Amino acid sequence: MWESDSLAHATKRATGLRSETFYSRFSNPTVTQFENAVAQLEGAESALAFGSGMGAIASVILSFCGNASHIVAQNNLYGATLSFLQGPCARFGIETTFVDPTVPGSFAAAVIPGKTMLVIAETPSNPRLAITNLAELGSIRGPFTVVDSTLATPMGQRPLDFGIDIVLHSATKGIGGHNDALLGVIAGEKDLIDSVWGYAVMHGAVASPYDAANGLRGIRTLGLRTERQNQSALILARSLEGHTKVLSVSHPFLESHPQHELAREQMRLGGTVIAVEVTGGFESCQSLVSHLQLVHIATSFGGPETLVCHPATSTHVGLSQEDLVTMGVTVGLLRFSIGLEDVDDLVDDIHRALAAI
Ligand SMILES: Cc1ncc(COP(=O)(O)O)c(C=O)c1O
Repeated sequence: MWESDSLAHATKRATGLRSETFYSRFSNPTVTQFENAVAQLEGAESALAFGSGMGAIASVILSFCGNASHIVAQNNLYGATLSFLQGPCARFGIETTFVDPTVPGSFAAAVIPGKTMLVIAETPSNPRLAITNLAELGSIRGPFTVVDSTLATPMGQRPLDFGIDIVLHSATKGIGGHNDALLGVIAGEKDLIDSVWGYAVMHGAVASPYDAANGLRGIRTLGLRTERQNQSALILARSLEGHTKVLSVSHPFLESHPQHELAREQMRLGGTVIAVEVTGGFESCQSLVSHLQLVHIATSFGGPETLVCHPATSTHVGLSQEDLVTMGVTVGLLRFSIGLEDVDDLVDDIHRALAAI
């Protein structure tokens, strides 16, 4: 609570832009510190925090779109983002054209001048780690371009450097970094971020100062953690390539990734997530995870503990069979988030579990 000196003082605070000491839904000093830190990391003029990544996504979309607006989005997205576009957005009359992000020019070709308000990408994508060409996306004029950069973190790539208008994170993941906070954040030019604030203050998906404090704690070690986790992810991914019980392994910095060169061009680090498709479908996945000793079965990524999840039955469970096929989310796919454990222990744990299926 902040006390005002007079009613006139309270009015001044109530009508001020992002007033920090009026009421915490408007803004809050701890949340502002977190926002400023993210803005610095992303090379942005301004940032705005939310109570979750989905809070950020919903607020950005509803800030700019209304009945008869059009969005171009990639067809390879985090499950809840896709469900939000297909469900509530469609119900509000917001139409989305989904495009394949790996096809050059696909986003620009789907833009309807005067109607398309937003172009939304997620790179690397969750869970198959498809890469969207940031420079190509950043050259689109007209609609605002939004990149969900959660899997890269600001240490892995900086979309604003490529001309993207808004970079977005579920800071629940790598930025928070300890699997104990729920946070979202966007960054970009001040006027644009302020206009999202004008909507977000009513939408109410704002960040709690307690979570923002955890976000600030995460940022203090973000560089060290992501370097180490990226390195371990790549070692682990390489160790699984060619294994007789593994059909495919995805990581943007593996030479076998179909967009490896693009990933190397636009990313400084390849990310802490790997996608592994095993032989034998769901039964093999069930058996594998039951034999893991070090890796936890849990839904999130970017934290210190290594986690595994089965996207088709968890993070992407609400999607149609057609969407799952489009995304390559098969019943044999597991998503690993690589943590800070000793990498040899992780390799041993996962290879031992693979041997047991
Ligand atoms: C790429 C991506 N964007 C957004 C979200 C949503 O974030 P939150 O769970 O913080 O709402 C997630 C969650 O897993 C995600 O993976």
